[in-house]
Amino acid sequence: MKAGFIQTHPVFGALDTNIADAVRRITKLDAGLIVLPELFSTGYQFRSRKEALALAEDAATGKAASHLIQTAKVKKAHIVAGFAERDGRRVYNSAMLVGPKGLVGVYRKAHLFWDEKRIFDRGDTRFNVYNIGAIRVGMMICFDWVFPEAARTLALKGADVIAQPSNLVLPYCPAAMVTRSLENRVYTITANRVGTEERRPGKRLRFIGLSQVTAPDGRVLAAAGRSKARSASVEIDVRLARRKLITPVNDIFKDRRRDLFEL
Ligand code: ACM
Repeated sequence: MKAGFIQTHPVFGALDTNIADAVRRITKLDAGLIVLPELFSTGYQFRSRKEALALAEDAATGKAASHLIQTAKVKKAHIVAGFAERDGRRVYNSAMLVGPKGLVGVYRKAHLFWDEKRIFDRGDTRFNVYNIGAIRVGMMICFDWVFPEAARTLALKGADVIAQPSNLVLPYCPAAMVTRSLENRVYTITANRVGTEERRPGKRLRFIGLSQVTAPDGRVLAAAGRSKARSASVEIDVRLARRKLITPVNDIFKDRRRDLFEL
């Protein structure tokens, strides 16, 4: 199966435009698993929790979900996309996994970054892994990369591919994902956005782009630039992700010295 990312340049608050742009790019990409950025439909820099609640949507019936499910049906593909999720009075920075049969799963960002702590509720889902045809997919969102337990949990639960919708502003993640892939022997797909937002005066954010697909041996198989929207896909070989040996005698899971680890 081929899998890839779509790097976008969303307009804050323009859900219809952002969703239509994503759908157009998904339709053109040759892949059975496609990852979109964090908060792809709304944009990132909410001024307040109230504003986030007003733009957030239900995971199963919102505009973003409905259009992505419809696109997944037509394309016979699975799509992972970050979105603002409303659940009653709660609002989460979430990712959905949708496929031809509808909504497969939702992940709510566990580790909120900076001002997100003012805007969103902390995620309460676990790090779940989903079977989609021949591959197993797990989700984490952007800043979760700083907590190696997120990717490790997904890998221990059997993920072949970790989909990481992102809105990166710090420079470290693309290099770090080489390590996340290598230490877990999984594919990682980081889908980031480009452009800037300054919805709070003096708090300008520049998103770094640099979306990438990284192989279980740490090779970067596809990478985008810093400033333009771009899509890319690569062939995924699940056998590589299921072989946890780093040398003939070093299994990255079995060799863990859990008897010495303190936490
Ligand atoms: C981030 O977690 N959006 C940096």
